[in-house]
Amino acid sequence: MQITPALEATGEFGAAPVMLLFRDLTEARRLERMRVDFIANVSHELRTPLASLTGFIETLQGAARDDPAARERFLSIMRAQAWRMTRLIDDLLSLSRVELREHVAPKTPVDLRTVAAQIIDTLRTMAGERGVAIALAAPEAQAIVLGDADELSRVVENLVENAVKYGESGGRVDVAVERREDGFELSVRDHGPGIAQEHLPRLTERFYRVDVAESRDKGGTGLGLAIVKHIVNRHRGRLHIESEPGSGTLVRVILPAADRA
Ligand SMILES: Nc1ncnc2c1ncn2[C@@H]1O[C@H](COP(=O)(O)OP(=O)(O)OP(=O)(O)O)[C@@H](O)[C@H]1O
Ligand SMILES: [Mg+2]
Repeated sequence: MQITPALEATGEFGAAPVMLLFRDLTEARRLERMRVDFIANVSHELRTPLASLTGFIETLQGAARDDPAARERFLSIMRAQAWRMTRLIDDLLSLSRVELREHVAPKTPVDLRTVAAQIIDTLRTMAGERGVAIALAAPEAQAIVLGDADELSRVVENLVENAVKYGESGGRVDVAVERREDGFELSVRDHGPGIAQEHLPRLTERFYRVDVAESRDKGGTGLGLAIVKHIVNRHRGRLHIESEPGSGTLVRVILPAADRA
């Protein structure tokens, strides 16, 4: 807050009028804090695999120099760590690309059914290895939205991947594309352990994970839902996550139909 004398002393009772200027800095402070947190998170996420790589390189140059079995084992861990860093950087780049284009709504007609079917096909093997079956229910008629097919594929991929990875114990993931009055809804439901209420509002924050160790273990970066949220915003859609511990998770994306946009 600033207080400045506005004029010479001409006011009533001889008092100088003052101008009070109030500026709400809450939003600016919040953004600044987010930026600082983001840099700290990225650095931390990169430092962990880098430290492990450096450690193994030193071991390979020293103690394990003449131990072929250990060498193989270490190299495969190093490879996984390098892959992790690559994934993190890829995700950061996708996030910044989507953010840059967020104010430009995509204009290409895309059939949501095709996008969902294609991505589910590519994920079936990964799901099968975990004992999870993916079912898709889609309408007979086309489900056309104005969109970016690649970005919409990333949405389906992230959501189905999450449902398979975290809801594995449910053994089944149900994906549906449905017509709604104002557009189309894509829903992904799993029957896993669900998510406690207090985490729900924070899931789309960058790097937010309910269980950091579990997500890392599964190769996650914690950026998936942040990317999904930005893509959905760019498509002028809505994202809802509903969950109850013990009865699985339902994620719904509602996109305006092409004839409504
Ligand atoms: N279907 C689900 N069931 C239970 N927990 C979930 C589910 N989907 C997401 N979560 C929780 O939300 C967190 C954030 O999900 P998000 O997709 O953003 O990141 P991630 O899956 O950890 O990493 P990435 O998407 O980069 O692989 C996850 O770590 C997990 O804790
Ligand atoms: Mg994910």
